[in-house]
Amino acid sequence: MEKALRLISSLAMLAIADQAAAAGTGDPANGQRLFSRCSGCHSIQGDNKSGPALNGVFDRKAAVVEGYSYSSALANSGITWTEDRLDTYLAGPTRLVRGTRMTISVSKEQDRADIIAYLKSLGGS
Ligand code: HEC
Repeated sequence: MEKALRLISSLAMLAIADQAAAAGTGDPANGQRLFSRCSGCHSIQGDNKSGPALNGVFDRKAAVVEGYSYSSALANSGITWTEDRLDTYLAGPTRLVRGTRMTISVSKEQDRADIIAYLKSLGGS
């Protein structure tokens, strides 16, 4: 009996660990779909629209896309776009960089993770 209980509790722990792992990983295919929220302002082909091109943005310094005129707030931020920084920026751009000109945010954590996984799949700089 005790053995059975121990087995059940370790199975439950495994299930919890599994869920935690899933929360930390984004789905790039879904991120590509969600990118429709970004593509009005951001290209992934290297050309700038009202926002800078985002191909290669992952793990790159902020505000370095040539030919794009950034806010001085973002230009002087000293940020590198790691998973963590991207997550914070997308959750509330002006909270991370006061004075940034990007104002839209992505409120759902899983949506942010998926979009970040998509940006990552486009390759680093
Ligand atoms: C309404 C237009 C608009 C939308 C929609 C938008 N952005 Fe932006 N984004 C901007 C602007 C403008 C900047 C430049 C901000 C600055 O200079 O302060 C920017 C900057 C960025 C940067 C920093 C780029 C760099 O070179 O440092 C990232 C990353 C980013 N946006 C991601 C996203 C993602 C992901 C989405 C979709 C969820 C999105 N943006 C949606 C306008 C937009």
